[in-house]
Amino acid sequence: MYLTRKQERMMDGEEGIAVRKSLELLVALGSVFGAEKLVPVESAHISGVSYKNLGEAGTEWLEEQAAMGAKCRIRATLNPAGMDMEKWEEMGVPEEFAIGQKRVLDAFVSMGVEPTCTCTPYLIGHVPRRGTQVAWAESNAVCFVNSVLGARTNRESGPTTLASAVTGVAALYGYRLPENRKPAKIIQVEADLDSRLDYSGLGYVTGKLLGSAVPFFRGLGLPDMESMKTMGAACATSGGIALWHGMGITPEAEWAAGYLDGIETITITNKDIEEAKAKIVSDPDNPTYCIGCPHCSLKEMEETANMVRGKSLDGKLWVFTSRGVYEQAEKAGLVKVIEDAGGRVYRDTCMVVAPLHEMGWQGVGTNSFKGGHYSTAHGFGTKLQTVDDLVKEAEK
Ligand code: F3S
Repeated sequence: MYLTRKQERMMDGEEGIAVRKSLELLVALGSVFGAEKLVPVESAHISGVSYKNLGEAGTEWLEEQAAMGAKCRIRATLNPAGMDMEKWEEMGVPEEFAIGQKRVLDAFVSMGVEPTCTCTPYLIGHVPRRGTQVAWAESNAVCFVNSVLGARTNRESGPTTLASAVTGVAALYGYRLPENRKPAKIIQVEADLDSRLDYSGLGYVTGKLLGSAVPFFRGLGLPDMESMKTMGAACATSGGIALWHGMGITPEAEWAAGYLDGIETITITNKDIEEAKAKIVSDPDNPTYCIGCPHCSLKEMEETANMVRGKSLDGKLWVFTSRGVYEQAEKAGLVKVIEDAGGRVYRDTCMVVAPLHEMGWQGVGTNSFKGGHYSTAHGFGTKLQTVDDLVKEAEK
């Protein structure tokens, strides 16, 4: 792989061992994928934050990076942790887990990573411009930044995003190159898209059918930002989709429309979505109902507050968001409305990366196919419902 003089010096260890090791990782990865060079990246979004996934080995690895002097040279935000960093006791998170989780956050903060703890950094001001190269991890974040914002990233991992944050570069291959951003299949939507749950279901079916190929959607209606975030999250869960185009919706769609000749069209109907849903749902005992996969926007916080005002939820409805949105929702009085109704609002974490079994959860109700997919995979009986229905069930 071609390296600039500066990159060669970094490889020689002139900027320290952490920089050298990070660059070695990126060069090795790029070589596997045939990258000819490295490109500067403007920002990173780092995954692999929950102590549930990292365990002791992953935590020690992060601490080693920090001890070697790893420091971010570009903006880097952080994916959700395994608990609300302030209200973890109220969540029922075991103390041993909390100690591990705090070590993880300390390591990231000492390396200069912003402890945003959210999978929706684009809702709290981390909004890369169209066409810029970034290094982002986490399925919904990657799908959103590539598709809706038109920036360029591969589906990075925790270690590679940290390496890019430390070096300021990434290997040039995959979705960083225009030729790999062309559509591979047309998805003709003939399903009714009446709710965000429908968009989530559409994404889930698309991912199942396409794997990691790039879809070009026709008939997507006019999804709001929240529908696009849940659809992308689902696309990236059942398959490995990192980029989608929507006619009249996404910034590269007009360009992508120039490459539709001769590619296959697949139709998705309500029946396909219902069949996919039937494979996830079961009949949970004593479910806890959750909203916020991906993390709630302020608009979703407001909608939820309006829905639950004056109700009696008895702790059965949990809402997950980022600390950035939480702060705004708190100022607007929305957190109080939800909590006064007996709901709970947590930041920094989510229904997938928190240690739900250890917290005593028995079943899950969610409005997210991504959340439902993982909840079933983790052995929970699972319901998939619209937010309206979740609130009604939580009130029973
Ligand atoms: Fe985000 Fe957690 Fe869902 S990371 S997309 S809220 S699984």
